[in-house]
Amino acid sequence: MKTRLENQYLNIAPGLTNPVKNFVARVGWECPSNIALIKYWGKKQGQIPLNPSVSFVLHQSRTILSMEFKVNNALSMPQLDYYFEGKQSFQFRKRYLDYLQHISQYLPFINQLELTIKTRNTFPHSAGIASSASAFGALALAVCEAERLLFNTLTDEKSFFEKASFLARLGSGSASRSVMGGFSMWGEAFFPDDSSDEAAVSLAGIVNPVFYTYRDSILVIYAGVKDIPSSEGHALMNHHPFATARINQAKENTRELLHVLETGDEPAFVEIVEREAFSLHAMMLTSSPSFILLKPNTIAVIERIRAFRKDTGLPVCFTLDAGANVHMLYPDRLTETVQPFIISELKAFCENEIIIHDHVGTGPVRNAVQP
Ligand code: PMV
Repeated sequence: MKTRLENQYLNIAPGLTNPVKNFVARVGWECPSNIALIKYWGKKQGQIPLNPSVSFVLHQSRTILSMEFKVNNALSMPQLDYYFEGKQSFQFRKRYLDYLQHISQYLPFINQLELTIKTRNTFPHSAGIASSASAFGALALAVCEAERLLFNTLTDEKSFFEKASFLARLGSGSASRSVMGGFSMWGEAFFPDDSSDEAAVSLAGIVNPVFYTYRDSILVIYAGVKDIPSSEGHALMNHHPFATARINQAKENTRELLHVLETGDEPAFVEIVEREAFSLHAMMLTSSPSFILLKPNTIAVIERIRAFRKDTGLPVCFTLDAGANVHMLYPDRLTETVQPFIISELKAFCENEIIIHDHVGTGPVRNAVQP
């Protein structure tokens, strides 16, 4: 079944299929990574999520991308040179090229471009931090910018970011939530009215100011490549014995979290966010085959965060991604109490003692410097 945006983007006006001969330009975008509070886990065909998810974008952890392109009307598929951190990368090139070809059904001009794409990430290479959300977010923003330059379309912010989110989603589901600032939600839910499985929506105007002050200290427990990529994990939800219960739980958690984000109820935030983190990993533990991404040090750190919360009564909590790293979340006003605790009690459990102190970010930025 074709959906609203898919129909709209497939239905390409004749004027949009023929880019200006020999047109040359360079566009640049910086796009942040994001951390989910309600987790996307499991999908249907066409990268449609089994449940809604909610996240905020980070400030420090970003992909910086530049894309030079030249229209060559003789081409029938994109031609790509790709550089990661200054060096040609054939592995990433293939992934990007496959992606560009896939999304060319929504932007046929891509097939007539000679492209040079350069990217770099602001977070350490081996920190176990997933870069697909920021990378596909940046690329989707860049191709939307190219469409705007070539055809004078997507001129209003809403249609620009909606299409960028739609396209980013096709690269990596969670990337749909990286192209907006602050908090966003992807997946159809009872609220907001424009929530959609096809693109994320911004929660600006809904979220209480206290949550914009939140910090995310990423405790890097394991810096290596994880055993099971997310794509395999999502697939295991297809025949998962607890799939229905998980989907219902995620929907209910979404409903509760949206209310909490609005009211600023920090103790309730702690409760929902930790429930979601463990629910994600519970799905992994009970898949067939089962897999474990948590490490002993993940548990050691979580136990200490919970003990610290109990002792101090402060609203600090953790969340987990599809990996062993612990994201410790707390409001900025507690930084002077929390960071010494991190240094004295948690740092020793981190691989090479790596901790990345990040916080809620304002979203992607156009005209990035050359990576
Ligand atoms: O976007 P993917 O396919 O890498 O999946 C990401 C899944 C989680 O990070 C575990 C949760 C989420 O919503 O970001």
